Amino acid sequence: IERTLSIIKPDATKRNLTGKINAKFEDAGLRIVAQKRIRLTLDQAGQFYAEHKERPFYGELTEFMTSEPVVVQVLEGEGAILKNREVMGATNPANADEGTIRKEFALSVGENSVHGSDSPEAAAREIAFFFSGLELVG
Ligand code: GTP
Ligand code: MG
Repeated sequence: IERTLSIIKPDATKRNLTGKINAKFEDAGLRIVAQKRIRLTLDQAGQFYAEHKERPFYGELTEFMTSEPVVVQVLEGEGAILKNREVMGATNPANADEGTIRKEFALSVGENSVHGSDSPEAAAREIAFFFSGLELVG
């Protein structure tokens, strides 16, 4: 069974949308097997998004991710990585399908409410970035 790393971003935690977003995951058959609310430092956000370091929005992205607490979580289910990205919808909410989290809740391409791992390699790296083995029960 597959696991993926999800983040409920500052624009969503600020608007108290954690429960509504979690309901979308659970309705899609994803199980929240670990979850915590944390405040990222700029260093941590920069390290987490290192793959985007050369992109013009890197500074804006990392500042945004530290602007309010985030909820980091591990979602589990059959095909969890793809399923989560389907439930999230397109990066830009203007292009997101009806019923997706980003269509319903995202404010802009930057403040887009959720992050989800985009490959098995990314999921393994991102889960280990935030959670220890002790925090991950079967
Ligand atoms: P994540 O699940 O967050 O990784 O989203 P994604 O895989 O759909 O998008 P991508 O990895 O390409 O970009 C990572 C994040 O950078 C996005 O989720 C946005 O928050 C942010 N981002 C992407 N493009 C832009 C942009 O043009 N402007 C700004 N401000 N932020 C952007
Ligand atoms: Mg991405």
